[in-house]
Amino acid sequence: MSQETAHPVTLLNEIFSRAIVDVLGPEHEGVDPVIRPSKSPEFGDFQVNAAMSLGKRIGTPPRDLAEKLVESADLASIAETVDVAGPGFINIRLSETVLSDALDGMSGNGLGVTPVDDPHPVVIDLCGVNVAKQMHVGHLRSTIIGDSLARILERQGREVLRENHLGDWGLPIAMVLQTLREEEVDLEQLSLDQLDTAYRAAQAGSKGDDRGIAVVEERRIGPHRVAELEEQNAGAESRRAAAAETLVLLQQGDERLIQDWHRLIDCTMRAVYESLDLLNVEMDESNNRGESFYRNHLPEVVETFTANNLAVEDEGALVVRFEDRERPMLIQKSDGGFLYATTDLAAIRNRVVNENADRLIYVVDARQRDHFKDVFDAAKLAGWGTTTDGHEVEMRHIPFGSVLGPDKKPLKTRSGENVTLASLLEEAVARGRSEVLRRSEDERSPTHGMSADELASIGRAVGIGAVKYADLSSDLVRDYVFDMDRMIAFEGNTGPYLQYAHARICSILDKAGVEEEGFASKDLLLREPAERLLALQLLRYGEVVASASSNLEPHRICTYLYELSELFNGFYQQCPVRKAESEDLLLSRLRLCDLTRRVLSDGLDLLGIAAPSTM
Ligand code: ARG
Repeated sequence: MSQETAHPVTLLNEIFSRAIVDVLGPEHEGVDPVIRPSKSPEFGDFQVNAAMSLGKRIGTPPRDLAEKLVESADLASIAETVDVAGPGFINIRLSETVLSDALDGMSGNGLGVTPVDDPHPVVIDLCGVNVAKQMHVGHLRSTIIGDSLARILERQGREVLRENHLGDWGLPIAMVLQTLREEEVDLEQLSLDQLDTAYRAAQAGSKGDDRGIAVVEERRIGPHRVAELEEQNAGAESRRAAAAETLVLLQQGDERLIQDWHRLIDCTMRAVYESLDLLNVEMDESNNRGESFYRNHLPEVVETFTANNLAVEDEGALVVRFEDRERPMLIQKSDGGFLYATTDLAAIRNRVVNENADRLIYVVDARQRDHFKDVFDAAKLAGWGTTTDGHEVEMRHIPFGSVLGPDKKPLKTRSGENVTLASLLEEAVARGRSEVLRRSEDERSPTHGMSADELASIGRAVGIGAVKYADLSSDLVRDYVFDMDRMIAFEGNTGPYLQYAHARICSILDKAGVEEEGFASKDLLLREPAERLLALQLLRYGEVVASASSNLEPHRICTYLYELSELFNGFYQQCPVRKAESEDLLLSRLRLCDLTRRVLSDGLDLLGIAAPSTM
């Protein structure tokens, strides 16, 4: 990259690193000059803070050191003004050419997002529905967050494997299959409602009322009630035994059961794919790496642990013990059965050894924190913490909180059921559509007179965008209240606000009637403070994407886009575009509009949110 098109922060870093060595000697090679954006535009664009801590460390008054650094730094070609302020901050206002050259560089070059050169794939473990029941709100978060992380990493040029670790094997499935069979349900016609009913019946039937017995005994309610409950418990036991038998048959590959099993999965997954489609998440069968996928790997996985003395017997079961925690991790039950953890170990082995991934990202409910800590540590003990070509594997659990209802309790329907994802998305789409329809009735609205189909598709983008943005913009581990009114508002830090900002710029560009070629190569004139602020924010995009990626935090992109929209509004209020004083200024401002539009659309895409051009 030539000196002219380098990012101003890169330039300032180079210049001040050199100045530090020149003033203080070669042992200060590599000291961070601490370049930060200025707190307020009247101080300039950037602040260099290194003199503060360095001065104190070497016993020179920071202000003196700051002055020496400024004297030594070669700033003539890039800064308009340089001041030393307060106890030793260096304030820098960049020259207009440095800013406009940097913007030129970014507009022709992937908007400033630097590609990461790493041939290892990254695995993102997302969605993870359990096929014995419907997808619920918790899976919404896993899917939305996981997909956004995947998009961010892909944007940097990484190969991403989105893997759906379906709960499609084990006792819960066997229980439902058993119940469906007892109730003689025709699985070819299986509906989600029937599945729900069977799931609940299976759960209720197999749960003995142990607590009930304890209460009855404690309060001496009477022996007949205890006997009654005991009988119920015995029933539960026999159902559990029947389900266990079904599981054995399933595991042995019993043809009829396997056929039923496929039908059950088809029924759930049809609905899942519909929801994913609505969510604008591209996943299909090829992304499925359910528990069943690993079923034949489990004995070998356990063998790795026993052969290397990493697992010990404990009352007939096999456990892995860790030095720093009490709880052992069970990998095989005394009856020979495997566990959720065993399957996750098999998945890690497959991802590292066969898929050669060096980053495994699990987007799963915060309640599974201990599970992942144990599984990751155990996998490292087994040697799956390094790829076959010797790279350390980063394993990260991205925990997320619950979606709460207005009563601050986990979201439930009025009758107390878990809210299904499908019903929630339906509501979002309906709200988005009515909002867009209402606005289109205003004659001044750009959507006025559009066809019902067009309005419906914008409405869908708005409704879904609102839900996704609300989910991604908050701190992931925190629970949040599902409040459709707040999410769908066109004001404030919401999805629709950003979508609207984007559409508005599209309409400004459209009305100006100048084709892109007309301004694409024109000089950017950045004289007004609002123009400079907007330019500086645009120049941060690459760094924000990089930090969202390394910290695995999509909300950094949300915050950035929101600030960008606010700065754009400030610019648009203070700097006339179509009525600019000169043709040059008009074209320069159109270019700024266009660059903002491109960054907004790119950023929304990283969040998996559509950016309609009319709203
Ligand atoms: N099916 C699991 C659940 O609903 C989530 C799976 C998460 N992924 C994993 N590799 N364990 O709790």
